[in-house]
Amino acid sequence: MAAEPQRGFFLTFEGLDGSGKTTQIKRLTSWLAAQDLPHIVTRQPGGTATGDRIRALLLDSKSAALSPRTELAMMFADRAQSIQEIIAPALAAGQIVLCDRFTDSTEAYQGGGRELGSQIVLELHRLLCNNLQPDLTILLLPNLKASLARARRRNTHEIEATGKDESRFERERDSFFQRVHAKYLEIAAREPSRIVVIEGKLSIDQVHRQIVGALSARLGLLQQGQSQFSSESA
Ligand code: TYD
Repeated sequence: MAAEPQRGFFLTFEGLDGSGKTTQIKRLTSWLAAQDLPHIVTRQPGGTATGDRIRALLLDSKSAALSPRTELAMMFADRAQSIQEIIAPALAAGQIVLCDRFTDSTEAYQGGGRELGSQIVLELHRLLCNNLQPDLTILLLPNLKASLARARRRNTHEIEATGKDESRFERERDSFFQRVHAKYLEIAAREPSRIVVIEGKLSIDQVHRQIVGALSARLGLLQQGQSQFSSESA
């Protein structure tokens, strides 16, 4: 029998717009570099040349007439390309892959927010993504109102500063985001061993320490008694 391919570690970040994912991914990337752990960072939608074009179509507020099913199909077109070009090769090379959003986003936003339901998302994931599952998912769920206000502020600044408009989702009503939030909680309750939920009013450092703790435990770093990987060094 052929040997199992070498498998890295697949870590995804999830949460509402403005939940602080980007900050935490940057902090964790520096931490991984300091530990000499081989890793790459990518995001969805986007990350590949094709994906960046799909991202532009999906996030531009001028794409107002996209149907929910078209949106869903485009999210998966992007993801299939990202797995093929970026994620699968990095995992096969034994790297830690940090991915900013993955299929939980599709289930929460298109399944929940757009009310397409979970089943169609999970089925497409099986068909188009070979049912690839993250080893660990960090779900950041700070206060809904505060994260939305942050995301909307950030987009206004970005449009003013760069002319790049990625505000199509942030323009949705609060009820859309309430459905996204509820679906995220449903997914987390369904898959408690994969998903670590970080909720409430915590500082950037406190969240970072929780993420480092969760990842270290999964990577077996804590068990090996390597105390330099503990939260104190984070
Ligand atoms: P992005 O600028 O990456 O937002 P954030 O920094 O908050 O992650 O924009 C991604 C947007 O796309 C975000 O509003 C969530 C949405 N999205 C979906 O609706 N479905 C998906 O499958 C994915 C990956 C993203």
